[in-house]
Amino acid sequence: MIRAENLRYVYKSSSGDKVALDDINFSIDDGEFVAIIGTNGSGKSTLAKQFNALLIPTDGKIFIDGLDTSDEKNLWHVREKVGMVFQNPDSEIVAAIVEDDVAFGLENLGIEPDKIRERVDLALDSVNMSDYKKFAPSKLSGGQKQRIAIAGVIAMNTKIIVFDEPTAMLDPMGRREILSLVKKLHTQGKTIIYITHFMEEATAAQRVFVMEGGRIILDETPREIFTNVKEMRRLGFDAPVAVELAERLRKKFKLPPKILTADELAEALK
Ligand SMILES: Nc1ncnc2c1ncn2[C@@H]1O[C@H](COP(=O)(O)OP(=O)(O)OP(=O)(O)O)[C@@H](O)[C@H]1O
Ligand SMILES: [Mg+2]
Repeated sequence: MIRAENLRYVYKSSSGDKVALDDINFSIDDGEFVAIIGTNGSGKSTLAKQFNALLIPTDGKIFIDGLDTSDEKNLWHVREKVGMVFQNPDSEIVAAIVEDDVAFGLENLGIEPDKIRERVDLALDSVNMSDYKKFAPSKLSGGQKQRIAIAGVIAMNTKIIVFDEPTAMLDPMGRREILSLVKKLHTQGKTIIYITHFMEEATAAQRVFVMEGGRIILDETPREIFTNVKEMRRLGFDAPVAVELAERLRKKFKLPPKILTADELAEALK
């Protein structure tokens, strides 16, 4: 379980202070899938970095399974529980061979080489990249690199995985692959925090946080959030395609309210 209490974060610099997170409160249960959306600069990445203590709150607290991230002696345990996947796959690759890259975190834990190999193989298999184990990451596509980065997190076996726009630099095919991998990790019991600019992706979550100006202004189901088209527009988001389409078709057809997905729309049109 993750709990944030009156969390505030301020970037301090000589040119002035910037309040990036302001009075954030939430709790996320084990196994939940939470998407975070918000306009540029609303504080999503700053929040992502609080989960594994890359940043420590300026005020307030965040607890991972009861562990206060700002307590230095918890740092190690917090990082054992929370894995991170970032936007730019290139900046996440650390080794010259795929399998070494996936093994990197484990080697730092001092695990036996046999065990490491086993975990790396399993992780590569689960992201469908076993065939590329001896490849140089530089030869891979963006989507493949991102899957390698995810394999690195899977190998660490953290119970929580935070994704900060992992598909932002990928083509549609790469995006689909990553999203289906994220869904699989969720069904396997991982707690997922998934930051995205793509509304379609956020509909896969059980819960959506909408951020604005460093605050979480909405915390509801994707259905509640995305079918409120007026509010979405006011906040500067596009509605998911199926929601937009249903909205237009309602002018000619009688359709049930709150259609969220293409499948639901197809069913309703029958
Ligand atoms: N290192 C930093 N120093 C000072 N201000 C920063 C720093 N990093 C981010 N900020 C500011 O903090 C605010 C929140 O930034 P953050 O990167 O968390 O937003 P974001 O929602 O992730 O945006 P994006 O959608 O562009 O990724 C922004 O106003 C940003 O300019
Ligand atoms: Mg960001």
